[in-house]
Amino acid sequence: MKLKKLLATGLAAVMVMGLVGCSSSSKSSSASASSAASSSTEKVDKLEEVKEAGVLRMGTSADYAPYEFHTVIDGKDTIVGFDTTIVEEVAKDMGVKVEYTDMDFDGLLGALNADKVDVVLACMTPDETRKKSVDFSELYYEDSNVCIVRKGDEDIVKSADDLKDLKVGVQSGTTQAGYVTEDLGITEAKQLKRVPDLMLELQNKNIDVIVTGRNVAQINIGQYDGLVIGNTEVGQEVAETSAVAVKKADDKVDNTAFIESINKTIKRLQDEGKIDEYMQDALKLADKQEEE
Ligand code: ARG
Repeated sequence: MKLKKLLATGLAAVMVMGLVGCSSSSKSSSASASSAASSSTEKVDKLEEVKEAGVLRMGTSADYAPYEFHTVIDGKDTIVGFDTTIVEEVAKDMGVKVEYTDMDFDGLLGALNADKVDVVLACMTPDETRKKSVDFSELYYEDSNVCIVRKGDEDIVKSADDLKDLKVGVQSGTTQAGYVTEDLGITEAKQLKRVPDLMLELQNKNIDVIVTGRNVAQINIGQYDGLVIGNTEVGQEVAETSAVAVKKADDKVDNTAFIESINKTIKRLQDEGKIDEYMQDALKLADKQEEE
């Protein structure tokens, strides 16, 4: 009982400290025009904040094998894949643990900006639109896009124009969705939240073609009968690269050291030749899934 009380008091103290921290920083930001110097000295350093928490919160959309997908380890549902290996290395260099949150791809940047997660790794391509709302690390991986079709339909897409006469499926909020709906103007394209649902729609002939990343296509055609990669270059007009997304710096938080630390890890992994090795491991792991 005594211990409980002590804990409760401790908790209340922490909460009060939190409140005090909050009100003083919001005061300083409202007065920031007159005292820019003092508000900048109060800025929270994102890297320090993560180190103090001991946890790096990663948001992802775990429907994108080999980048991120679910598997059962020791009877427990676990998120694994290429991006999890990268984030584990990033966290190791910071001296912290990783906490994963799985959500729909189109909700990731909102979660980042709402401070629900510290980083997003989701084979996220740092395009110009996204760069307006979040910051990105250096690229850590480059893939390309392909078209998945049903067996026998290998040649239905000869040019990007052909897509306009077909039922196209893409994951909502992705660069592939932007390419199909905005660049090609196919506004009626089917946009689904999760990639496996697209595969089912293609198998069931509700759509004719999916534009997605090559590694993702390679894994999925092994898992969904009757699907193949089309004989076409279409899709390659849009990048399928990966970078780590972090919330932009503002008058309260400085993210410079945080991004530098992430970039340092990426550089280290590149120098050690680890990146391709991690992708090969992830491809094997995702493939094995299917056999089990
Ligand atoms: N690279 C594409 C993009 O940034 C697709 C990423 C989809 N990722 C996922 N985990 N489902 O929009």
